[in-house]
Amino acid sequence: MLDLAQLDRPMAARLARELEEVKIIFERQLASELSAVNGLCVHIEQYRGKMLRPTLVLLSGLSVLGDEPLTPAHRTVAAVTEMIHMATLVHDDVLDEAEVRRRGATVNHLWGNETAVMLGDYLISNAFHLCSTIGDPAINLALGEVTNTLCEGELAQLHHRDDFGLDEATYLEIIRRKTASLIGACCQLGAQLAGAPTATTAALGRVGIALGIAFQIQDDLLDLLGNEAVVGKTLGLDLSKGKLTLPVIAHLSEASPAQRATTLRALETGDATTVRTALRDSGAVAYAQTAARRFVDDARAELTTLPASPGRVLFDSLAMSVVARDR
Ligand code: FPP
Ligand code: MG
Repeated sequence: MLDLAQLDRPMAARLARELEEVKIIFERQLASELSAVNGLCVHIEQYRGKMLRPTLVLLSGLSVLGDEPLTPAHRTVAAVTEMIHMATLVHDDVLDEAEVRRRGATVNHLWGNETAVMLGDYLISNAFHLCSTIGDPAINLALGEVTNTLCEGELAQLHHRDDFGLDEATYLEIIRRKTASLIGACCQLGAQLAGAPTATTAALGRVGIALGIAFQIQDDLLDLLGNEAVVGKTLGLDLSKGKLTLPVIAHLSEASPAQRATTLRALETGDATTVRTALRDSGAVAYAQTAARRFVDDARAELTTLPASPGRVLFDSLAMSVVARDR
């Protein structure tokens, strides 16, 4: 993912400074009188990677505002989106029984599912509490709709567990909801808070949705083929949890009956090596990589409808980094 520190550009430096402010808001909001709570919040700070979602709120704002300053609401919404994201990760690791995230032990692995469920609840509750301080019900409504949508995505994913007939359209709908809905809202709200015209706000919302879909396809490719030491989280969980991802879906829909039977047997018996080989050899991995790149291309094409600016250039680099990442 894009590393702002590596980019010697005034816009990257400005964004990095703004993100530091967001971290302060984030930490202040979660601070509790109870050390039992603070210990958990300190632990999940390691989950914070490159802060993609806050970055998109700020960058969307900057792409509209140019040299004008961001509003305080931009920073608050940025912190809220990171809190929502972290709540979903803490709960997701319970569902996936994951042991490692961001190179450290998951909350469920260290303290058990009860603590992880409650910490996720604490995060989501604080996210909406913090959001309410802005005093704009439209933002709460928009983010409430997002959390509804991402829960629907997760529920649909659970419904299709071990569904070897899952089609590409349904998979895309699931990841649009569980991942892209929040990323789309980050871009849309960043533009909206900057006072962008409706057409620009909608365009940036579409940029975020396309990037979010590309992000999740790449995440699924890393889960299938990545190196756990590099990615820094437990991998192979999609196969072991019966979540069909794009390479598997593409392979099963195109394979000969004999090949399909072999792959289905490997999926049912948990023979991940045979599954990976079949997906690579049949071109299904390449198919998914191309699909992810196509969503990034869509996002980049939509970005060109914004006026040229340093913010837009940085946004474009970030868009490309979504599929170039190996972690
Ligand atoms: C990542 O999936 C999961 C998500 C993007 C969404 C998870 C959402 C929930 C569990 C619902 C919780 C809802 C609230 C409101 C707290 P993944 O397993 O493919 O990603 P990973 O590889 O990072 O684990
Ligand atoms: Mg997971």
